[in-house]
Formats: sequence, C-alpha cells, structure tokens
Amino acid sequence: MKKTRTLFFVAVSVLLFSCKKDTTITKFPEEIQFVIPPGWASAHYDFSTNKLTTNGFILGRKLFYETKLSQNNAISCGSCHQQQFAFSNQYHALSAGVNGVLGTRNAPALSNLAWQTNFMWDGGITNLEVMPLAPLTNHFEMNETINNVVNKLQNDATYPYLFNNAFGTTTISSQLLLKALAQFMGMLVSSGSKYDKYEKGETSFSTNEMNGLNLFTQKCATCHTTPLFTNLQFMNFGLDSLFNDPGRAGITGAASDSGTFKVPSLRNVALSSPYMHDGRFATLADVLEHYSTGIVHSSTLSPLLNTIAPLTSMEKQDLILFLNTLTDSTFITDARFKNPN
Ligand code: HEC
Ligand code: HEC
Repeated sequence: MKKTRTLFFVAVSVLLFSCKKDTTITKFPEEIQFVIPPGWASAHYDFSTNKLTTNGFILGRKLFYETKLSQNNAISCGSCHQQQFAFSNQYHALSAGVNGVLGTRNAPALSNLAWQTNFMWDGGITNLEVMPLAPLTNHFEMNETINNVVNKLQNDATYPYLFNNAFGTTTISSQLLLKALAQFMGMLVSSGSKYDKYEKGETSFSTNEMNGLNLFTQKCATCHTTPLFTNLQFMNFGLDSLFNDPGRAGITGAASDSGTFKVPSLRNVALSSPYMHDGRFATLADVLEHYSTGIVHSSTLSPLLNTIAPLTSMEKQDLILFLNTLTDSTFITDARFKNPN
C-alpha cells in the first residue's frame, strides 16, 4: 500500500514537473481525447478537422497566454480571460486593451466553447477557429495584425520548435496559430460543479438550493437551458428602452434583433462579475433585482420577460444559492489550463 502510494506521488510529481515546461513534451500521450460529459449533446466544433494532440494543446495554451499577440507585447488573451474568474475579467466592467484603451463590452467567462454556435455578445463570429482574429485585430483589445504576430512568433527562439512538435512544420502560419488556439479553447470544458454532482446523485442540495433550482427551472431555464445554461439564442433582457448598442442587429441588420444579445451561459457565474454585455451590474443580487422589478419595456423585449412577478427576497436569495452551485472549482484550478510561462 505504502509503496503504491509513493509510486503514485512520484508519478504525480513527474507529471506536474513536466507540465511546468512547455518544451518537455515526451511525457505526454500523443493524442488527447475530447470527453463529452455524460448526457450532453455532441459538440458543435468538429475536432476531426483539427486533431487534438498534446503538443497542439500545449502550443494553444502558450499562445493563449502569449503577450506577443498584442501590439505592445503587453496583453495576452489570458489578461482579460483569467482562469481564477472562469476566464472572465472581474476587475473591469469594460475590458481595457493595449495602452488601457477601454472597449465597449464586458469580457464573458469562457467555458464549453466547443458547444457554442455563435461567439461574442452579438454572435458575430460563428467559428471557434476564426474567433481569435477578432480580439487580435480589435483596436480596443490587442490592436495587432495577424502578419505581425506570425512574424514575431517565427522569430522567437521556441515557437518554430513548438509548431513543429504540434503540426510537423517550423513554418508558422495564421491558420496553424488559429488551430492551436482552438485546441486550447475547445478543451475548456466545465462540468464539475456542485450542480453537476447533484445531477449525478453524488451530492445533495440544501433546502434553499433546492428551492433555488425549482425557481430557476420555472423562471430562467427557457433561456438559460441546461446543461450549457444557455439556449444559444439572442434575447432582449429588458435592460434599456433605447439601445446604445444594437446587439444582434449590428450583425443581422434586422430591426427585430435590436437590443438582443446572446443568452450567456451561467456556468461559474458567481465568479464572472460584473454582469451583462456592458458589465452594468456588479452583483448577482443586482441582476435579480433587475429581473424582479427593473425590466424595461421596448419593441424587442422577450415575451418571456413580459409577465414577471416580482421575486420575494427569499426567492432571490435561494436563486443566488442555486447559481453558486454552478461554480466549478476543478475547472478554475485545473493545472492543464494554467499559464505555463
Ligand atoms: C482586452 C481584453 C480582451 C482580450 C485581450 C481578449 N479578449 Fe476575448 N473577449 C473580450 C471581450 C470584451 C469579449 C466580448 C466581445 C463582444 O461580445 O463584442 C470577448 C469575447 C471572447 C470570446 C467569445 C465568448 C463567447 O461566449 O461568445 C472568446 C472565445 C474569446 N473572447 C477568446 C479570446 C482569445 C482567444 C483571445 C486572445 C487571442 C482574447 N479573447 C483576447 C475581451 C478580451
Ligand atoms: C428571455 C430570456 C431570459 C430569461 C427568462 C432569463 N434570462 Fe438571464 N439573461 C438573458 C440574456 C439575453 C442575458 C444577457 C443580456 C445582456 O447582456 O444584454 C442574460 C444575462 C443574465 C445574467 C448575467 C450573466 C453574465 O455573464 O453577464 C445572469 C446572472 C442571468 N441572466 C440570470 C438569470 C436568472 C437567475 C433568470 C431567472 C430568474 C434569468 N436570467 C432569466 C436572457 C434571459
């Protein structure tokens, strides 16, 4: 017994040690399995066109945390999408990019991206592989050109080697860069929350959490549908009567989409404050207050929100207790997703 335990510790330390350095690649198995949690639909992103490998994933992770992806070499994807906050940014309502220039939207938490059909609050991007081009070139975010990034990486001491490990070529291209990033982002699966354990019968809910779940099922789940906690649709949540940000209509041009935004997933929502596309609410209590008494009528308001009875303070409290069960501590501490640099 003692011997097995020692061996186990040795194995774990070897693994942890080898995780530390991106260049120690030989300890990892070649192919990674993309695991679909039991009961979930198959993913939207097709990994058969971008075969997941350990080296591809490791490269994608390094790129996600690489400041050379920004114009001033100071900002990485991970600057705005921080693991401890479920890959959102808790400090800023609106994200600050290169030279502190403020954007217009709140950085969403990232998880289960492989199931998403549309990215961004307005759903303007439909492919996980194309996704990084937006922040890379966005003036408010990384303000860089893809050609400059490719050049910087090509002239770096380690990247040609890492691309060779992942894709069998030392010639870096934007396509391979995007494929590697997609491997990392696609692997960000969060399915280990207390709620998931409750669903599997591995833990129980308190009376208040149970009450919160029942309220959630009645009042929220049509839009925040399990297991992703989004129905992947665009809705007007009754925030404004006039729309500063046209939301989905900015992409489709349809008046009926004015002021509608992607229904965000609520996984890890307790960690991803502030809330809404513009980060206007600081706390979950503020969100529930809005839902209870603050819905603003407008032409595109979702009919589902038209008939809302105010929530009692007890109901709000129980809903928040339920939302807290969506926090996945394994996900936010998973060593595989940490900054390797
Ligand atoms: C300056 C902060 C910032 C940086 C840097 C940044 N992002 Fe984001 N990210 C945001 C904001 C803000 C949004 C929402 C933008 C919108 O909806 O218009 C977003 C949205 C996303 C989304 C869509 C999530 C969803 O649920 O729709 C993904 C995926 C993403 N970012 C990945 C990345 C990657 C990969 C990088 C690096 C190449 C990156 N981000 C760099 C702030 C940032
Ligand atoms: C009609 C669809 C709909 C219903 C019903 C609904 N929501 Fe939402 N929810 C949305 C949309 C759309 C947003 C994003 C709105 C925006 O940013 O403009 C949102 C945002 C949120 C956010 C902020 C998430 C973030 O990351 O910023 C929380 C929290 C939330 N909803 C909780 C709830 C709860 C709890 C209920 C039930 C009491 C509920 N919602 C009912 C559509 C809905």
